[in-house]
Amino acid sequence: MTQRKILITSALPYANGPIHLGHLLEYIQTDIWSRFQKSRGHQCYYVCADDAHGTPIMLKAQQLGLTPEQMIAQTSVEHQADFKEFLIGFDNYHSTHSDENRAFASEIYQKLDAGGYIKRKTISQLFDPEKQMFLPDRFVKGDCPKCGALDQNGDSCDSCGATYSPTELKNPRSVVSGATPVLKDSEHYFFDLPAFEQMLQDWTRGGSLQSEMANKLQEWFKEGLQQWDISRDAPYFGFEIPGAPGKFFYVWLDAPIGYLASFKNLCDKTGINFDDFWKLDSDAEVYHFIGKDIIYFHSLFWPAMLDGAGYRKPSSVFAHGFVTVNGAKMSKSRGTFIKARTYLDNLNPEYLRYYFASKLTSGIVDLDLNLEDFSQKVNADLVGKVVNIASRCASFISKKFDSTLSADIAEPELLAEFVAQGESIAASFEQREFARAIRDIMALADKANQYIDAKAPWVLAKDETKQVETHQVCSMGIHLFRVLMHYLKPVLPAMAIEVEAFLNSELRWDNYQTALIAHRINVFKPLMQRVDPVKVQAMVDASKENLQASAEPVKVAAKTTAKSASNAAVVATESTATGFEPLAPTINFDDFAKLDLRVARIVSAEHVEGADKLVKLQLDLGFETRQVFAGIKSAYEPADLVGRLTVMVANLAPRKMRFGMSEGMVMAAGPGGADIFLLTPDDGATPGMQVK
Ligand code: MSP
Ligand code: ZN
Repeated sequence: MTQRKILITSALPYANGPIHLGHLLEYIQTDIWSRFQKSRGHQCYYVCADDAHGTPIMLKAQQLGLTPEQMIAQTSVEHQADFKEFLIGFDNYHSTHSDENRAFASEIYQKLDAGGYIKRKTISQLFDPEKQMFLPDRFVKGDCPKCGALDQNGDSCDSCGATYSPTELKNPRSVVSGATPVLKDSEHYFFDLPAFEQMLQDWTRGGSLQSEMANKLQEWFKEGLQQWDISRDAPYFGFEIPGAPGKFFYVWLDAPIGYLASFKNLCDKTGINFDDFWKLDSDAEVYHFIGKDIIYFHSLFWPAMLDGAGYRKPSSVFAHGFVTVNGAKMSKSRGTFIKARTYLDNLNPEYLRYYFASKLTSGIVDLDLNLEDFSQKVNADLVGKVVNIASRCASFISKKFDSTLSADIAEPELLAEFVAQGESIAASFEQREFARAIRDIMALADKANQYIDAKAPWVLAKDETKQVETHQVCSMGIHLFRVLMHYLKPVLPAMAIEVEAFLNSELRWDNYQTALIAHRINVFKPLMQRVDPVKVQAMVDASKENLQASAEPVKVAAKTTAKSASNAAVVATESTATGFEPLAPTINFDDFAKLDLRVARIVSAEHVEGADKLVKLQLDLGFETRQVFAGIKSAYEPADLVGRLTVMVANLAPRKMRFGMSEGMVMAAGPGGADIFLLTPDDGATPGMQVK
């Protein structure tokens, strides 16, 4: 076999959030492929990095009271710890906020500029006059220009599905400050993507892309390629464009360049020749594993940038679908938005590696993590089939036969059949048809178990005249187990290490074909426990809990609502056994009239450093602005609150809290946690109106 040179990447996770199980599909898929290629003896490197630039990262750091550099350093440590425990074997993990990346981004930009591929154009965009910054689409909200639905995103309406430009929104507001954005001109730099259409067409027709991706590209060609805006004005966290003070590269320009930067960083540490992989006539293979949401960037912009700057293009881009949990989009309130860390606190990472592998194909299809099916499959396949083979045979070998496998093979044909499937299983791994590989491996595991069932060594062992046969049968079981574990090694690297210790032999593609004859093995230790349903539930609960609010401010608000609402009767019934709060004693109208309830607009909402339940709100009452700390973080993303109307108790005595003064209270219903429901007036109400 000729040794291939292969460079593999996964998409670079954003440095403003934790790794979750959706991300992990990609890193696990890539890692299995990378481990497989390495095990086949190829020269293969797997690199990644944090994607550290952009407006969301800049604003998040501000909210946390950190510099962006501090925040991304912290996130990088967390990301890498998660990846390590999920056994993601990167050869290098770097950052797009690195010297290497700055150098490559500048160089590539300058080459593109010299080639005439950078155009300058003045455009008009929404600008936050308070924050003094241009607003990316997702930082503008307003009312839908088509149907009038309130509080819609800058680019599309959740209510009628319309898409539009943020400048078309009615009553636009900045999510950052609540201010009304104004239009402002600025010169932007554009990458001339249409100039690369022919090249991209040829690249697409090369046949190495997934068919779904090639079809998508054909659609995009038909729609026509557009100039791509690659500059952003200060303030921005990123790299300043050489020769353009105050202008920065858009995060997506330097993000894929991060692949080069991380690899260069590895080359400099180890002496690998960078050019062997990236110069134009390179004979190395380069593959990017990505999710389906970022195909445009990787199949159009990125190859065009590389081409325009004189680098080779990727050999292929491998996209996968999205993870759903229990059949639905991952959801915070259902506890199915599961962070890598929450999973690791409860479950064995190899369960997930196996489950994803057992469902992954080379296609771009979504993958459902059904938690029932997950437990069932791991228990049935790994514990019930694979580990069971060894556990049923090992103790006889160690107790009765001096821990030594027999000198002859009882069923050479059966063993040969297991070995013979090696190349087709390898082909499945190579083609990223992991589900097929796992199916074939499990079919063999069934055969091995049938063999052991039929021979029943536990019966043979009791018969003094059948000791040779007992030895042979148990040894046979171990031989078969060894072949299977060899195939599973890219999927279960930690278990494979334990199996290697048990077998006293390495699992390698150049040795599994020959059985371990009269070979000494070590004591068998349980390799994998069954999935504990209690732990699965604990993981889901903890994912909900991450959002659990302080009962205090919310409860009070909720009660106030029930008490003061004129239709309190619908809340009805006394008994707490029904789950309802008992009704408060009757009050007269004068008591009620003491409350001054007002419509208020949330003009800003921020995380509170050090408080995991509170959101700091600025409420516009029309005639003044109030600061209120509300215990609603468990149910609301601060950014989603900005711009919406709610009801506040406006004459509540101000209260000094650890984080500052709270000048009132917003009203919400619900018991707390994810179940907090902020009150909203009907359309037409405006800030300052009294609620009576
Ligand atoms: N920073 C960009 C990628 C830049 S690559 C030059 C980005 N980051 S991300 O953190 O949002 O996503 C990282 C990868 O995880 C992407 O490939 C994305 O598709 C993938 N996934 C994120 N959520 C996912 C699921 N729920 N399911 C499967 N993959 C998902 O995009
Ligand atoms: Zn609409």
